[in-house]
Order: sequence, then C-alpha cells, then structure tokens
Amino acid sequence: MPARGSGAVDLKVGPLHAHDTFSRRGAADIAKTHKEDTLDHTRVIHEGAAMNKIEILTGAGISAESGLGTFRDENGLWAQHRIEDVATPEGFDANPKLVHDFYNMRRAESTKASPNSAHDALAQLQKAFRGEVILVTQNVDDLHERAGAETMHMHGALAGSLCAACGARWPSSLLTQPEDPCPSCARPTTRPDIVWFGEMPYQMDEIYAHLGDCDLFAAIGTSGEVYPAAGFVQHANASGADTIELNLEPSSTVSHFAQTRFGPAAQTVPAWVSELTSG
Ligand code: APR
Repeated sequence: MPARGSGAVDLKVGPLHAHDTFSRRGAADIAKTHKEDTLDHTRVIHEGAAMNKIEILTGAGISAESGLGTFRDENGLWAQHRIEDVATPEGFDANPKLVHDFYNMRRAESTKASPNSAHDALAQLQKAFRGEVILVTQNVDDLHERAGAETMHMHGALAGSLCAACGARWPSSLLTQPEDPCPSCARPTTRPDIVWFGEMPYQMDEIYAHLGDCDLFAAIGTSGEVYPAAGFVQHANASGADTIELNLEPSSTVSHFAQTRFGPAAQTVPAWVSELTSG
C-alpha cells in the first residue's frame, strides 16, 4: 500500500514554509503504465544529439486554455479559497465537508473540460519519440490521460479517493462526502487522493531517478512557487541535462533554465513538439 510521508509539498513563503524541501522519502505509486511502442511513424529526434530521455513537468498553466483556473494567476483558486482551509491535513480535520465540497467542485469542472492542443502535443511526443518521454504533472485533472499520455500525478488526482485512516486508495465517485465508508476498512474517513501542503508527493523516487539521467528537462505552465517540483530544474542541471521553460511569463525559477519560450501553452507546446519531432 502506498504510504505518505510528511513535509514535502511546500510553499516557499508564508505560514506553511518549507522545511524539508528535497526529502525523497515515502514515494508511492499511482500506477504508471509503460509506453507501448506501437506507431510506425516513430522518428529519430535530434539526430546525432544522443537525446534518449526527456522529462517534462507540467502545472496548472497547461490546463488554463481548457478552462481550468490556475492557482496563483489573478482570480486563481488561491485568490478564492484559503490554502489552509482546503489544501492541508489540518484544514481537512477542521472541516472535512468544506474540503470535499471544494474537490467535488473541481472534479465537476475537470470532467467538463477537454484536453487542449498542448496536452495533445505531449501525448503525440510520447508516441513519436524514439526514447522515453517521462511526463510528470502537478495537476490533479486527467487531461493528459484523456489526450492519450501516460502520466505520473505527483500531487494526486481528482479521480481518486484515499482513506484518511488506513491509507487505502480507490477510484473516486463524482461526488464524495466525509461519511463515505472506506471500501477496505469501512471507516467513514474518505478524503480526496490529493497531496496537500505538508504531505509527501507521489512517485518521488522515480521522478528524481529520471531527473538524474534525462537529457532534457522541460517545465510547462508552472509558477515555480511550490517545492519539491520547483527544484526539479536544479536537479536536472546538476545531472547535466538541457533545460527549457515554457510558460505564459517567466516563472520564479526561470533563471535556472537554459532556454525559455513564453506564451500560451496551446501555442508554444505544439510548436516545440513539432521542432523536436521534425529532426
Ligand atoms: N499557458 C502557459 N502558462 C500559463 C497559462 C497558459 N495559457 N496560463 C497561466 N500560465 C502560467 C502562469 O503564468 C503561472 O506561471 O501557469 C503558471 C501557473 O502557476 P500556479 O497557479 O502556481 O500553478 P502550479 O505551478 O501548477 O502550482 C503548483 O501549487 O497549490 C499548489 O498543488 C497545487 O499543483 C499545484 C501547485
């Protein structure tokens, strides 16, 4: 059973300040299936450049043009809701119904949304690249999967429920409430399978291992405000990887990237993928 550690999703500033930014303990495994190499049109990318593995981190910005709000842009989710109330274990303990309602609302919005051309392009890159394309998202929507990509959800998923008592995980109903019984231990301790501030993201060991041997690390649509994800670029740099940021505007960690592309993801990502696959 996947276990969570503590102290890993951290804000850089404020009352929930980081204290264990790069802990790698307690990695867990939302199942990541392996890419099937089925397509005939596989292309060699960057011929002669020996690029065998690309690791991509996405954030809320990639889903913005699908109609899902980001967290920190003007009128973003964190302008409308207090992080402490809806995205911490303490908030859940204080008012579980408020927390369920918040994620029920987000699950309904996510269900109505459709993948945009940036999600589609990354799914296509996974299929067309002769090496590996590791896709890690901080997003809890399922738009990458619905575009056809294999995805690691380091911050959990709206599609999942988690037992706050025994740690069991199961597919979520569209609407959940605190009284929902856990299918494993039967206690009324259902919570969203979302990694909150102060909790350990999923699959960290695997994500860091890929950062250690990828040739290119790309961050797309993320503000660089939340660790450990914001520190991935430094790990990639330390491993000698090339790095690129694609974002609407420079992120907090832009200075660590070798290359940058600014603009809406639905435009910049397909163009970037097209360059990679036309080699
Ligand atoms: N195309 C590309 N980037 C965009 C677009 C767009 N259309 N719209 C907004 N952005 C950029 C913003 O400029 C911003 O830098 O996306 C970024 C979104 O930043 P955040 O709202 O902070 O989202 P994210 O980085 O994913 O947040 C990380 O914070 O609260 C937590 O757990 C939550 O996973 C989330 C984490």
